[in-house]
Amino acid sequence: MKKDSAVTNQFLCKLSDLEDLSCKGFTVDVKQNSSRIFIIRKGDDVFGYLNVCPHALAPLEWNPDDFLDENKEHIICSMHAAKFTIEEGVCIEGPCIGASLTSVNLVIKDGVIYLS
Ligand code: FES
Repeated sequence: MKKDSAVTNQFLCKLSDLEDLSCKGFTVDVKQNSSRIFIIRKGDDVFGYLNVCPHALAPLEWNPDDFLDENKEHIICSMHAAKFTIEEGVCIEGPCIGASLTSVNLVIKDGVIYLS
């Protein structure tokens, strides 16, 4: 996560819109293609990934903006329950251990989160 940037950024939401250990999904334009992403706040950090599971390329969430497991310790895929670390997006349990979610670049500037 970058704290500032001079490149063109897409507005996502305010940092204050995300409680600690909460997520938000978005549809954004990446290179003129529509892509689904999600972001997760953990403390003062925010992590972002494409909303595509590396196992069977399914979207991850159980319900809108619901990407975490019961204990809010890991990202979990609703399809076959693969678990991923929040910070690195690496699968540590389930059918695709060792595979990773695709991270997206985020910028936080003046309390606002942007896709970079
Ligand atoms: S599609 Fe995510 S675990 Fe299978």
